[in-house]
Amino acid sequence: MAALDRERFEVRPFLISKEGRWKPGPILPEPGANPGIDVVFPVLHGTFGEDGTIQGLLELAGLPYVGAGVFASSASMDKEHMKRLFQARGLPVVEYIVQPSGALNVDAALKAFELPVFVKPANLGSSVGISKAHTRAELNDALKLAAQFDRKVIVERAIAGQEVECAVLGNDRPEAATPCEILPSREFYDYEDKYILNTSKVELPARITAAQMAEVRRLGVEAFLAVECSGMGRVDFLLESATGRIYLNEINTIPGFTSISMYPKMWEHAGLPFARLVERLIELALERHAARQSLRYSL
Ligand SMILES: Nc1ncnc2c1ncn2[C@@H]1O[C@H](COP(=O)(O)OP(=O)(O)O)[C@@H](O)[C@H]1O
Ligand SMILES: [Mg+2]
Repeated sequence: MAALDRERFEVRPFLISKEGRWKPGPILPEPGANPGIDVVFPVLHGTFGEDGTIQGLLELAGLPYVGAGVFASSASMDKEHMKRLFQARGLPVVEYIVQPSGALNVDAALKAFELPVFVKPANLGSSVGISKAHTRAELNDALKLAAQFDRKVIVERAIAGQEVECAVLGNDRPEAATPCEILPSREFYDYEDKYILNTSKVELPARITAAQMAEVRRLGVEAFLAVECSGMGRVDFLLESATGRIYLNEINTIPGFTSISMYPKMWEHAGLPFARLVERLIELALERHAARQSLRYSL
C-alpha cells in the first residue's frame, strides 16, 4: 500500500481474517455489485488466497485483479500438478513420488530414494507440514505430519546445494529479473526461518556463474509459461553442488510482497523500483482483463 502513488491510486484495504471474515465487508460475486473498485490486488498466501479460490470470486465479480488467474493459481498450489506441467514442457524437476494420505507407505518411499528425503503436503506453502527425513523413523513421522495437511503427500530426493529464486513479470511475454540466493539459517528454509527468526540471509545477485544466471532466468520464464501464469510469479530453484544441475522447485503465484521481500528486491536490482513494479502489475491486470473481455462466452 505504501508503494502505491496516492496521486494516481485511491487504496481501499479489504482484510480477511483466518476464519474467513471480511473487513469492512466482502467483495460480492456479481458484476457491477462492487462500485468504486477498478482493480483488486490480492496479497494473500496459501489456501483460499493463492489457490484460485479468491481469483474465482473476482472472476464472478467481473473485476480485474493482479497476478495469476484461477487455473495458474490452483495448478501452482498443487505440487504434483505443478511438477507435471513443468515435466510436460521438458523442464527439470526434482525426482518425486506421490502417496495418498490414506495409504502412506514408508517402504515404497525408501525404495524410491536414498535418505535424506523431503516430505511435503501436496498443497499449502510457507513450508507448513514439510520435513527433511534422515532416518526411517523420521520418514514415518514426516509422512504422518504431511498427511494432516493434505490428502496427498509428496516425497522427493533431497538436493544438496544452493537455493535460488527468480522474479518473473509479465503476461504473454514475461521477463525475469536478477536471481537471488537464499541462505537458510536452519537445515532448510522452514516456517520459522521464513516468518519468525529473521536470521536467514540473502545474496543478490545469486553467487552463481553467468551461464547459470542465464539458465535460471530462462527456466524461470519457461516455468511461468508452463502453468500459464500471469502478472507475477517467483520461481524457486535448487542447484545441486555435486552435479551442477539446476532443478525447478516451485512457482509461487503470490510471492512475499513486503518492503523486505525478495520479489520486489530482485526487480529493484534489475532496474524497476517498487513503486513502478506495483504500477506495472496493475497495468498487466487491466491488460489481461481487457483481453479476456474481448472473448465470447456463448454463440
Ligand atoms: N528436494 C529438496 N531438496 C532440498 N531442499 C528442499 C527440497 N524441497 C524443499 N526444500 C527446502 O524446503 C523449503 C520449502 O519447500 P518448498 O517446496 O519450497 O515448499 P513451500 O511451498 O512450502 O515453500 C525450500 O525452500 C527448501 O529450503
Ligand atoms: Mg518454497
